[in-house]
Amino acid sequence: MSHKAAVLTALDTPLEIHEIEVESPRANEVKIRMGASGVCHSDVSMQNGTLMGAAPIVLGHEGAGVIEEVGEGVTNLKPGDHVVVSWVPQCGECFFCLRGQGELCKAADPALASGGLLDSTTRFTWKDGQPLFQMAASGTFSEYSIIPATGAVKIPDDLDMKVAALIGCGVLTGVGAALNTANIAKGDTVAVIGCGGVGLNVIQGARIAGAENIIAIDMNETKLQMAKEFGATATVNASQTNPVSQVMSMTEERGADVAFEVIGLGATIDQTIQMTRRGGQAILVGVPSMDVMVTVPAFLGLVLQEKTIKGCWYGSSNVQKDVPKLVDLYKKGELKLDELISREISLDQVNEAFDAMKTGEVARSVIVY
Ligand code: APR
Ligand code: ZN
Ligand code: ZN
Repeated sequence: MSHKAAVLTALDTPLEIHEIEVESPRANEVKIRMGASGVCHSDVSMQNGTLMGAAPIVLGHEGAGVIEEVGEGVTNLKPGDHVVVSWVPQCGECFFCLRGQGELCKAADPALASGGLLDSTTRFTWKDGQPLFQMAASGTFSEYSIIPATGAVKIPDDLDMKVAALIGCGVLTGVGAALNTANIAKGDTVAVIGCGGVGLNVIQGARIAGAENIIAIDMNETKLQMAKEFGATATVNASQTNPVSQVMSMTEERGADVAFEVIGLGATIDQTIQMTRRGGQAILVGVPSMDVMVTVPAFLGLVLQEKTIKGCWYGSSNVQKDVPKLVDLYKKGELKLDELISREISLDQVNEAFDAMKTGEVARSVIVY
């Protein structure tokens, strides 16, 4: 069956809209008619090579849609079910899943490494039958996709597809970083560097976790204004002042109890670690390029200060448990999700959404199919 998708054919080139073919789902896979897909910074990172991937590839990993067809052996999902796409399909049975660390699922490794599904092969092809990879076991910049059944999380039919799509990456990652990865105590002071689609969710997660002071740091004034709507109690414009000394002076020279890096740059990772108080936690959420190193003086920076530096992958989420929890929080009005949607666009406008993300104009552009 042929349909439209946005394809990255080579590094550093614009995405191209093509008619491509999609197979039927194989065993333990499902076919999805995409409802919506957010445009996340990791898509841009695939385009510019910060994240390494195969090409040609259908990008997009923050999506939601309706199950169109299920493969052999799929018993928990049926055509017509609405689902969020999880870009880490969590098997539920491996060492990590059994210990509640589904974001590190071993069974997902081949998919993330190959640009295919769990068996490393892809279900997309060009018209001539040549294979086309799919980003992160998903490929949501596409009217249809095949994903592992373990990567489809059922949601209520009345949930807006745009909102559901955002849950699939930015919300799970950001809110999860605050609620799962970090250990935020009531009354804590939290600092967040980078207030894009993911950082705004860290901010609202910190608010839900009971943080008293939430210091939002960005170089873009519009983002800092948005950060306030999402729960920031103070803002620091890093293009005008040194964010580390600002956070120090706001905390009696102690530093933040918990600081988050949500960009993926060496310089801001350093700042995040420096602005964390002794005994505090520095949580690294942003995805840096492969050559970025973390350098910390072992004694003065770590041992003597009892600092924790912790990586965060997919908000340390157990998707089958956390997606329903986030939907619940949204329905209760505790989670702002509609406010994350700066623009609704069509698939053809995906390159404009990439540009808007690079200039920092938007929290999220969302493709509606
Ligand atoms: N200091 C402060 N803020 C900065 C700096 C800097 N040096 N450089 C960029 N920013 C801000 C931008 O202004 C923007 O608001 O960081 C924010 C990044 O937001 P987005 O581009 O919307 O990225 P997002 O989708 O939120 O992803 C952030 O998380 O999942 C990962 O791969 C993703 O690494 C990326 C990160
Ligand atoms: Zn993402
Ligand atoms: Zn697993």
